[in-house]
Amino acid sequence: MQRLQDELQSAKDQGRLSHPVTWKESRDLPFLDACVKEAGRLHPPFGLQYERIVPDEGAKICGHYLKGSTIVGINPWVSHRDRATFGQDAEAWKPGRWLCDEATRRRMEHGLLTVGCWNAVSFSPLQLSDVGQFGAGHRSCIGKNISYLEVYKLVPTMLQLYDVSLPSRNASWMEYNEA
Ligand code: HEM
Repeated sequence: MQRLQDELQSAKDQGRLSHPVTWKESRDLPFLDACVKEAGRLHPPFGLQYERIVPDEGAKICGHYLKGSTIVGINPWVSHRDRATFGQDAEAWKPGRWLCDEATRRRMEHGLLTVGCWNAVSFSPLQLSDVGQFGAGHRSCIGKNISYLEVYKLVPTMLQLYDVSLPSRNASWMEYNEA
């Protein structure tokens, strides 16, 4: 949190932050971007399989042939913790992991939800801006862009107004999904 507040303060001191923060200004806040991505990775809002139906001709997915009409899906709470993609510390909150070289960042972005499987069955390639909480391919969220706009503007604007902290750093969170 301190690092994010420092980034915002520095941008403000340099006259790069309005109130409310504009979308354009928010695109120049790399640590904010890293925090949004890491939050979406560790806490995807839907802990459900994003289901897809294999086309009639069948498909080879992750080395396995599946016949047409098979329902496939991946739960992002599982795929977003894939150590081969995100490293041995995949369980940890580490926004700094996104401030890496472009090839690694792209590989991780692609690993959010998809783990590289969707392309194998010719679903649309994941956009670079995609983060797993909005799904991927043809049925991805149509509200994604408006939601990003809200998050990237609201969070830095709110953090300029309030000092936010947890009541206890040792308290654990209880998370659950209801359908
Ligand atoms: C933070 C906010 C939001 C989150 C996390 C979210 C997440 C999702 C997810 C995970 C899916 C399923 C994607 C898939 O199966 O690959 C979805 C689908 C969808 N979302 Fe959102 N969504 C959000 C906001 C919105 C908003 C604001 C709208 C409308 C303006 C919206 C409209 C839709 C629609 C219509 C679909 C179904 C698309 C389809 O099946 O073709 N969502 N959303």
